[in-house]
Amino acid sequence: MSVIRSTVLGCGSYLPERVLTNAELATMVDTSDEWIVQRTGICQRHIAAEGEVTSDLAVAAAKAALENAGIDAQDIDTIILATATPDNTFPSAAVTVQEKLGITHGAAFDVHAVCSGFVYAMTTADAYLKTGLSKRCLVIGAETFSRILDWEDRTTCVLFGDGAGAVVLEAQEGEGTLADRGILTAHLRSDGRHKDKLYVDGGPSSTKTVGFLRMEGKEVFKHAVGMITDVIVDAYAATGITSDDLDWFVPHQANKRIIDASAKKLGIAPEKVVTTVQLHGNTSAGSIPLALDTAVRDGRIKKGDLVMLEAMGGGFTWGSVLLRW
Ligand code: COA
Repeated sequence: MSVIRSTVLGCGSYLPERVLTNAELATMVDTSDEWIVQRTGICQRHIAAEGEVTSDLAVAAAKAALENAGIDAQDIDTIILATATPDNTFPSAAVTVQEKLGITHGAAFDVHAVCSGFVYAMTTADAYLKTGLSKRCLVIGAETFSRILDWEDRTTCVLFGDGAGAVVLEAQEGEGTLADRGILTAHLRSDGRHKDKLYVDGGPSSTKTVGFLRMEGKEVFKHAVGMITDVIVDAYAATGITSDDLDWFVPHQANKRIIDASAKKLGIAPEKVVTTVQLHGNTSAGSIPLALDTAVRDGRIKKGDLVMLEAMGGGFTWGSVLLRW
């Protein structure tokens, strides 16, 4: 049976030039390289320059993805940008990206699901492509979390970084089998009862300010592995595939301990896990496409490989996307 598959044409990413190491952070707050590495696996993160905004990061990643895909920006009809740190409350950062890419047709909008943003955006793009609303979709995850961190709060400021990644998806015909390239299944979840465990303490309608990130780290940690593994098991149940069939596991990069524990619980071999958190920190919606692009460019992920993406974040929101690259 012929079906529409949302197929990856190319990917790209961008990291701001400035690197902030754990050693430098230890001069700013009461922390140490040893503590951060032991609890999170993070060694360094990138920080956007003054005046460098989320749409700038997104455009740089998008241009790299378009080049990698070998298509022109004018061939894109939909831009979906996952971010929790848009340039302004409105318009969406996506329309600024659209303008900076010189596109005046089609639609552009932001998706807001914090660290799960990229899997939410991929799933939304998949629905647009499958229903014929879009033919070619630019999906971006971009964040400048450095702007919403309380740099005096050592329990949060050591965890996050800035960065962006993007993929170009095209509607292509598939056979309807698991051998098809493209998105094979996607599963999204949320549970607002947990909204106060990871949030920003400001907003246009509440405080009229932007606010700072607040987190009950232990509570997030406690729920993360169970939620991540649940949506991956959903993907296995929908397709009949198992951990052994996966070529690559590309999780949201929040914490190495969460990534390792999830892979272990699912029986995914450590050599199949793509980990970039040590170099990027947690870049929220940017983390999965950044990790994907890293593994594509260093030759690990190849055309035809079976790749599992997953994320969990504020809300809580969580989800998985299984695709054949
Ligand atoms: N440097 C040094 N010490 C720190 C510190 C830091 N940056 N941050 C906290 N501490 C201290 C605490 O004050 C506490 O001290 P105390 O025992 O004297 O009270 C001690 O370290 C242990 O703190 P705790 O919060 O229990 O640590 P933890 O083992 O739970 O690790 C996290 C903290 C944040 C690393 C961990 O909870 C975590 O990774 N949570 C998930 C966070 C996450 O991934 N969020 C994003 C999801 S998208």
